[in-house]
Amino acid sequence: MSRIRIFDTTLRDGEQSPGVNLNKMEKLEIAKQLEKLGVDVMEAGFPAASEGDFQAVKLIADTVTDVSVTALARTRKGDIDRAWEALKNTPNPRIHIFLATSPIHMEYKLKMTPEEVIKQSVDMVRYARERFTEVEWSAEDATRSDWDFMADIIEQVIDAGATVINLPDTVGYTTPDEYGRMFKYMKENVPNIAKADLSCHCHNDLGLAAANTMAAIENGATQVEGTVNGIGERAGNVALEEVAVALHIRADRYNYETGLKLDEIKRTSDLIAKLSGMYVQANKAIIGRNAYAHESGIHQDGVLKNAETYEIITPELVGVSSNTLFMGKHSGKHAFKDKVKEFGVEMTDEEVKSTFRRFKELTDHKREVTDDDIYTLIMETKTAH
Ligand code: KIV
Ligand code: ZN
Repeated sequence: MSRIRIFDTTLRDGEQSPGVNLNKMEKLEIAKQLEKLGVDVMEAGFPAASEGDFQAVKLIADTVTDVSVTALARTRKGDIDRAWEALKNTPNPRIHIFLATSPIHMEYKLKMTPEEVIKQSVDMVRYARERFTEVEWSAEDATRSDWDFMADIIEQVIDAGATVINLPDTVGYTTPDEYGRMFKYMKENVPNIAKADLSCHCHNDLGLAAANTMAAIENGATQVEGTVNGIGERAGNVALEEVAVALHIRADRYNYETGLKLDEIKRTSDLIAKLSGMYVQANKAIIGRNAYAHESGIHQDGVLKNAETYEIITPELVGVSSNTLFMGKHSGKHAFKDKVKEFGVEMTDEEVKSTFRRFKELTDHKREVTDDDIYTLIMETKTAH
């Protein structure tokens, strides 16, 4: 199995989610949990963006020892110097430099010619390599860039010392087939590509981030960038837990593994949701409240007989204590009986039958029937007999 490196950017791209603002102690708490989760690289922030971010990156770099810490910088000496100040005490400092390569970004945002973009990238990668042993260069908006232009600039930044080349789908525009082909194209058309690692970085504007990431992996990406819970700019970044668990569950199909401790996923997700204030949707893959919950009678019956009938992931794999049989209007008598057992109440078949009937009536009037409601119904039956 080939190893895929996990580059977590929850503390940088994730923090760019509108409304999210983490203080440095909160960032440190998340960084320590990411270390437990087993990410290979964590992007702690963008030191040139604010004094607060500089302090947070420095604190993390000074504290975290088991994970390589990196920080974002524009192709400017001032940004690179600031990143070095923040990162110089970490055992394995890395820098992540980016410059846009798409026509729309070069013309309207940067107001630079393609030649100027190449020169600035090459100069700043060379400058960064004077201090950092690992230099990642990102072609911002790669998926709307000309592939031959990218092949050219990538070759030159690798010659200047870049050790990782990242091809971000900055605006979540690409499709799995197209993104996969782009990686293949760079592998086949950049003569010195073997000297650098290829990295993918997907945003989720079209809901394709996980599929695009998987396509990149199949076509040569050895590093995946993303965030826990998929938080990030606009519709967010790829959710790392989705990629890691997909690779694990479909190991028959993908011959890749990550170093993530999958049973730390839930704890990490909960912490990030709490500190970022971005709560996870109930039906979110892998860690949503409903991801291991079953409501319909047919499904509940199947799961009670053999969980694999409707569960492809065991909840314990990702640190969720158990599955739940949600009691609602679609639930069946088998699950209801199980619930009665859970409360430790002895009931005759007749009592179960009549309580179940009243439970069904209640589900027609109440959107969510709680355990307390069910317990009350059980007690009413018991006292009526
Ligand atoms: O999405 C993006 O292009 C980025 C870059 C800074 C790598 O986050
Ligand atoms: Zn991004």
